[in-house]
Amino acid sequence: MTKFYKQINGYPAIRMRRNRMKVFSRRMISETHLNANNLIQPLFVTQGKYENTYIESMPGIKRHSIKSVAKEAMEIYKLGIPAIAIFPYIPNDLKDENGTESLNKNNIICKAIKEIKNSCPEIGIICDVALDPYTNHGHDGIIINSEINNDKTIEILCKQAVIQADAGCDIIAPSDMMDGRVKSIRSALDKKNLINTSILSYSAKYASSFYGPFRDALGTKINSNQVLDKKSYQMDPANSIEALREIELDINEGADIIMIKPALSYLDIICLAKQNFKIPIFAYQVSGEYSMIKAASEQGWINEQDIIFETLLSIKRAGASSIITYFAKDIAKSLK
Ligand code: PBG
Repeated sequence: MTKFYKQINGYPAIRMRRNRMKVFSRRMISETHLNANNLIQPLFVTQGKYENTYIESMPGIKRHSIKSVAKEAMEIYKLGIPAIAIFPYIPNDLKDENGTESLNKNNIICKAIKEIKNSCPEIGIICDVALDPYTNHGHDGIIINSEINNDKTIEILCKQAVIQADAGCDIIAPSDMMDGRVKSIRSALDKKNLINTSILSYSAKYASSFYGPFRDALGTKINSNQVLDKKSYQMDPANSIEALREIELDINEGADIIMIKPALSYLDIICLAKQNFKIPIFAYQVSGEYSMIKAASEQGWINEQDIIFETLLSIKRAGASSIITYFAKDIAKSLK
């Protein structure tokens, strides 16, 4: 504190409420703002009998057909949202132990990328790199000797990344949490001269129960056991120093943007990342965060719009520059 403040000696000369007293003044002193530019809409896409089916645990969210996802992307873009993140629902008969369908150049994700770029060339497309939508066991990697094998998984992820980038994906987002994948994916992309494809690394991805509804959406529920648990690759919610190490490694390996996920329970991690690194930080307000807000507001227990604004503002205040959120389209509409 400076001498000046000491002389004033606080209350009654200092009244914090003066700045909050009127609307105009509250507007002037506001430190954080929501803007459609900083929102990213996740979208689910599928083919066949699950086209345009709604996800029970995520009210209002559906698995789009390819046509419908392209139309939706256009609407989203017109609302001022710069990018979407797309996730596939793969029918069971296309899943296997090794997630082979992820390497099909004509799989649902590649088709969707092309259709979206056709109808809305300006929108940014972000694609997950991980095997869980494609494996019959629901893990993000392949199993060898009863373990999710790090290095063999990376080999497949590199091919998946190249295939998606070739199809027109702008940002490759590894969400698998294998060690060293950012480095390998960067060099695989560069070898194919895909030097302008960015990497958004899910650097601090926690083993979280907040992903439950997403696994309903994709049909990737798994029977975990001690060894074959997502906890053997995703982070322990107890840890923050480990998150800083993960982020530092990913930056060194060539990540362009890093992500913290989930968002609301991990605001401290977002804040630490912001203080420690000079790189854009994204946060993912995940499915469970969406569903909790939806469920409570459907009961009339909370005000949906207010809560959404409050959570998104908190995530930005903590230090996220952009937020992936299932509320993106709704919020962009109310920001208009
Ligand atoms: C898969 C992946 C998950 C999410 C995004 N990519 C789930 C998981 O790791 O099991 C979760 C997103 C959400 O819950 O909205 N690699």
